[in-house]
Amino acid sequence: MKLNHKLTLSLLTVGILASACSQSNVKKEGDTSSQPVITDEFIKENIDFSVNQYQHLSTLVPEDKLPKTYIKDEDKFVTSGTSWWTSGFYPGTLLYLYEMSGDSSMLRLAEQKLEILEKEKNNEGTHDLGFMLFCSFGNAYRITGNEHYKNVMLQGAASLATRFHPETGLIKSWDHGSWKYPVIIDNMMNLEFLFWASEASGDDKYRNINISHADSTIKNHFRDDYSSYHVVDYDPTTGKVVDKKTHQGKADDSAWARGQSWGLYGYIVMYRDTKNPVYLDQAENIAAFILDHPNMPEDMVPYWDYDAPASDTTFRDASAAALNASALLELSKYTEDKAKAEKYVSAAEKTIISLSSDKYRAKLGQNGGFILLHSVGSLPHDSEVDVPLTYADYYYIEALKRYQDWFLD
Ligand code: GLY
Repeated sequence: MKLNHKLTLSLLTVGILASACSQSNVKKEGDTSSQPVITDEFIKENIDFSVNQYQHLSTLVPEDKLPKTYIKDEDKFVTSGTSWWTSGFYPGTLLYLYEMSGDSSMLRLAEQKLEILEKEKNNEGTHDLGFMLFCSFGNAYRITGNEHYKNVMLQGAASLATRFHPETGLIKSWDHGSWKYPVIIDNMMNLEFLFWASEASGDDKYRNINISHADSTIKNHFRDDYSSYHVVDYDPTTGKVVDKKTHQGKADDSAWARGQSWGLYGYIVMYRDTKNPVYLDQAENIAAFILDHPNMPEDMVPYWDYDAPASDTTFRDASAAALNASALLELSKYTEDKAKAEKYVSAAEKTIISLSSDKYRAKLGQNGGFILLHSVGSLPHDSEVDVPLTYADYYYIEALKRYQDWFLD
């Protein structure tokens, strides 16, 4: 049964208030004052914790590696080399933490990782250079103004653009597998990097790539209810769709939770940088799919796939929740419909409060030094199931930063 929205929201409020009742920052039921639900103190407590937690994490990461996850049962800290798609999130999180805490040890740790990451600027074998270089060098350049970081990113953007082919009008995601020309919904996240590159270089090429990619993705990735397929495979010579499949979701026609979040975030960025209302509409429709979904749990941390059974034994994905929170805060700034804006902020607040509660936030010194528990990498591959993930931490801290920057004085 699908709950109507008002009922869903009041149930959510009751659920969240119950689970977070020990936190003084939470509004009392019936409190209609305009005090923010999340306070400066709440954010500071979470940032102080995260700085301490990342100090610990930094002691576990070998010099030439980046952290990926931690497997509790095996007490195994898992890392990657620089060419793995998640390599930019750790330095990116450190940079957000530096900005929010002023703790210069966070900056120093980030700078050490930027040194080993720089070589990826020449990597033409991945579509993930946005994640890898914009979350890391992008934040570093924004914070420090160091021109070297700008040059690294311009080279990286040129490498990413080699994966765009006019025959399909899309950036190719993967070179592996038996796919012809696979494009995954995740790829929407790399467009932010290319918008930056157009602005920084004065070359419209990158911006045009983004518009072409995003328009084809609207056409071919989305279903009537605005959920999305994970992988669309194209014929590389004609650009015709060959197949629509999943890779990390429950089924080809299911709604893999993180995929929905990648799409939401991606179309918000498209609107931010073009002001084309088609993209705002797309983002709002994706948000409606997520927020009104009958399987969305009361605490707003989605099950790993919206088509997975809504039950206590179904794994949650804190990474999708963190992405949703960060994305919805931005979406609330663009929508002209006040009720929708309030709905987005309220959902983001509830998500942030849940993720900051004992259920999802690790204890200091545990969880391999990662901040959040309970994410899912790829359940069909039995890989990274119910674990911390470096990108869950990144988007959680980003959501806290956005809330502080945009909603607190
Ligand atoms: N981009 C891969 C993932 O979301 O797992």
